[in-house]
Amino acid sequence: MAKVTIDGISIEVPDGTTILQAARMIGGDIVPPTMCYHSKLKTSGGYCRTCIVKVGKGSEKDPRPMPKPVASCRTTVMDGMEVQNLTSPDLLEARAGVVEFLLINHPLDCPVCDQAGECDLQNLAYENGKAGTRYEFPRREFERIDIGDKIQLHMNRCILCYRCVKTADQVTDGRVHGVINRGDVAEISTYIQNAVDNDFSGNMIDVCPVGALTDKTFRFKSRVWYTKPMDAHCNCTKCSGKVRLWFKGEEVLRVTGRRDQFGEVTDWICNECRFDKKKTSDWTIEGPAHIDRDSVVSANHYESLKALKTDIERQRKSLPHGDKVTLGHGALNPNNQ
Ligand code: SF4
Ligand code: SF4
Ligand code: FES
Repeated sequence: MAKVTIDGISIEVPDGTTILQAARMIGGDIVPPTMCYHSKLKTSGGYCRTCIVKVGKGSEKDPRPMPKPVASCRTTVMDGMEVQNLTSPDLLEARAGVVEFLLINHPLDCPVCDQAGECDLQNLAYENGKAGTRYEFPRREFERIDIGDKIQLHMNRCILCYRCVKTADQVTDGRVHGVINRGDVAEISTYIQNAVDNDFSGNMIDVCPVGALTDKTFRFKSRVWYTKPMDAHCNCTKCSGKVRLWFKGEEVLRVTGRRDQFGEVTDWICNECRFDKKKTSDWTIEGPAHIDRDSVVSANHYESLKALKTDIERQRKSLPHGDKVTLGHGALNPNNQ
């Protein structure tokens, strides 16, 4: 076991645990943001540098500080290590620099981007970036590439996190795309325009932290904050069948995998569940999905509908016959959840 202290909070973790995993075990605001790491994907992490932390003391045996910020998703803890994240202004300044780099070539067209409202880069820029940009040059732009009838690639928005490449490698039965070229001409592309249509390829949409890979069957049918996420399952022979349905009224607009509090997919789902089962009768509905992230989606507080119903019932019982029930904001107050 190794004892590590992060922002003044100590925890004992098994040897081999990374700083990021230790921070997640502690939980709360001290958990560094991540864009390329995904716990279900082996060898992910180490590309985006948003998870950097300052190591003020390397270990009990060697207390020297590490000379520069380290990627917490790729650095294992040592016994006696002392780490700073939110408590170091220098580190926060360095992370703001990382965000600035990520945004150098990013189009910043959130109002017309399908990912808006559930975008990790939006959240990252809002929480760790700076208003304004110092970049004066034209942003790089790419021609559209057709990678099949289900997934839209919009390379302008890609941050080269490699998550989709690792998903294709580890979850589907054949990878037909990857990162070609290097430096500022690097891009995601299929080999000779092969369509990405193998059974689990839709999971690449879910792991993409930005709007570079989006679902063609859902694109621009609605803004995500007008939809109502519900957890549901079915008996699927290919995958777990555990999904999230995104309703608009009675209509299922989109099917995705479920995500945890770090925005990471919990169960991979097959393309049949994702793209072909869009009828409510295909699913057993479990109830409103818990969105535990900074997202306008969670602002809808669907989970409090139960509280709203109880409130209406309570008022109805207490009022004289014939009086109307008024809907106070109390039932919709997130603090009541
Ligand atoms: S990918 Fe995210 S940050 Fe980029 S334009 Fe779309 S919503 Fe905005
Ligand atoms: S397309 Fe999305 S998942 Fe793939 S490398 Fe680009 S940003 Fe990452
Ligand atoms: S999340 Fe650690 S480098 Fe990207």
